[in-house]
Amino acid sequence: MADWRITFLRSLLFYIEKGYPLSVSIVKAKEDSKIKGINWDLIEEESRDIILNFFSLYGRKRSEKVDYWIKNKERISPSLPDWMEKELSVYLDTKLLVSSLRKRTLWLRVNTLKTSEEKTARELEKNGVLIERDKDFEFLYKVVESKVHVSSLDLVKDFRVIIQDKASVAVVNELEAEAGDELVDLSSAPGNKLSLFAMLTENKFKAIALDLDQKRLEKERLFLKKAGVDLDRVSFVLHDSTTLAMRSLVAQKVLLDAPCSSSGMIYNDPSILLSLKDKTKVDFFSRIQKEILRSAVQRLSPYLMVYSVCSIFPEEGEEITDLFSDFLVPLRKKYSHPYRGFKSVQSTRLFPFSEQTEGFYIAKFKIQ
Ligand SMILES: C[S@@+](CC[C@H](N)C(=O)[O-])C[C@H]1O[C@@H](n2cnc3c(N)ncnc32)[C@H](O)[C@@H]1O
Repeated sequence: MADWRITFLRSLLFYIEKGYPLSVSIVKAKEDSKIKGINWDLIEEESRDIILNFFSLYGRKRSEKVDYWIKNKERISPSLPDWMEKELSVYLDTKLLVSSLRKRTLWLRVNTLKTSEEKTARELEKNGVLIERDKDFEFLYKVVESKVHVSSLDLVKDFRVIIQDKASVAVVNELEAEAGDELVDLSSAPGNKLSLFAMLTENKFKAIALDLDQKRLEKERLFLKKAGVDLDRVSFVLHDSTTLAMRSLVAQKVLLDAPCSSSGMIYNDPSILLSLKDKTKVDFFSRIQKEILRSAVQRLSPYLMVYSVCSIFPEEGEEITDLFSDFLVPLRKKYSHPYRGFKSVQSTRLFPFSEQTEGFYIAKFKIQ
């Protein structure tokens, strides 16, 4: 067994357990293990695998876990923490879920604020990215195969193409964007959904972008500018949306893409699995989601609101929207059925194993 691999994997687990995302942990572990001439694509694949298998690894110490992994890699399979397995198996096939986390599907949105679809699709293919146009959204493409790191392409660096998951696009689609719309985005940073909303109105919109985090709001402003969004049309407001006091704030559309456990993003970043060793995070965000939704329903003027979370737990989805189920309205497009046993039957879920997307929950309200 090559020593560098052991050093690398131990270092990787160290950073992951410290709470760094997988991509950052890989870079740091690479630096620590000071190795050259390695096929990094394979190492990255193995890094993803060891983290997805984390809850199947025996041993208390990192070194024991890595030894166990190296000796038993072919025999063990990824698993969820016990509490998660117990809870989710009521609603879905957890084996299917876990196996779908091993490979991420990359979705690319052609940013028509900066370029045209046909031209960009041709350029992607010329660069060695084999793509397939999505059947629901004509500006969206699935990466079938790529000879290059898509994020290193000029097209992506200059925001003519934006890496944006189909589930995120499905959320914005429910806002039924039209030129002249006014939108309140209750938790807006880093602005992915707002930038798509701007694109769909061809920059003929107004938005109030709220967020609790100053740094993330600044990042959002920068991102929107680079993505070609007309910043004169956006007011950025540092605000806690659990305490809205804005009756004067009149908007036809509201987006609550709520802060959440990010459990639906495990297939982007398996390190999230380690932040879900117990249910603390889910309960924490569930409480915040309820507070923001309640505040929005009580304090804003009549509007159409889309509620979404990148979570696979009912505590952040159906349980939240059930509180205001009288206001729920049908979605433009339904994907997977929401979890059974709740009132929010008009909502929808997306999963990596059925839609090849992040795990998302979407519901739509009409508040009079
Ligand atoms: C899921 S992210 C939003 C992603 C964004 N809609 C997008 O598409 O790029 C959730 C955001 O909620 C913000 N947030 C957390 N608690 C909040 C609160 N009480 N009020 C407003 N924003 C909050 C976080 O800072 C974070 O930026």
